[in-house]
Amino acid sequence: MKRIELSCLGGALALLCIPLLLGSKATPNPAANHRNPVERGKYLVAYGGCSDCHTPLKLGPTGPEPDLSRYLAGHPEEAVLPQPPTLPMDSWSVATAGLTAWSGPWGISYAANLTPDVNTGMGIWTEEIFINAMRTGRHFGVSRPILPPMPWRGLAGLTDEDLRAIYAYLRSIKPIENRVPEAMLAGQPVHD
Ligand code: HEC
Repeated sequence: MKRIELSCLGGALALLCIPLLLGSKATPNPAANHRNPVERGKYLVAYGGCSDCHTPLKLGPTGPEPDLSRYLAGHPEEAVLPQPPTLPMDSWSVATAGLTAWSGPWGISYAANLTPDVNTGMGIWTEEIFINAMRTGRHFGVSRPILPPMPWRGLAGLTDEDLRAIYAYLRSIKPIENRVPEAMLAGQPVHD
């Protein structure tokens, strides 16, 4: 690495240096092939953008950033929201500024608490429930359909091993108590 930098300083080889340096940056994340399920799960959760919807955004010094004190804890229970507009299928869907609650023609969905908190998170979820939910698109693997924009169809195609790794990682993160509101379907809360 040092040698590459030195030769780049020479200037004449600058064009050759660029791909070399880029190449050195693009080293694949070692967790991609990691045998440790928690590490592998962490990698998949990062790539799957789970935090983009399941961690609320807050305003930081350089703009919106994930509120890591609520990492993967879902839609904040204390958020008071105005009534969303009624939106037909060929219209818009809208989201909160924190990107954790979504209103559209289907109703309102609130990103779930994925932390292992027993009462409000996924504490009681077994690995089997998690895999079934992601494979079938049914809440808890058995009941109502999982609503947009949860990208379960993408997760359904993962191998058992990868889904198990995601589950293992989610069990390893800090439990956060946050009771996400029930989803609304056709104007009514759906009791799971
Ligand atoms: C684009 C936003 C978005 C992304 C990205 C996203 N989710 Fe979700 N997720 C949601 C919403 C919204 C819900 C609530 C859906 C509902 O209530 O039906 C949800 C619900 C869930 C649930 C609960 C399912 C159930 O049975 O009730 C799990 C588990 C979950 N997500 C895991 C993940 C994982 C793991 C990832 C990353 C691989 C992920 N989500 C990425 C928005 C998202």
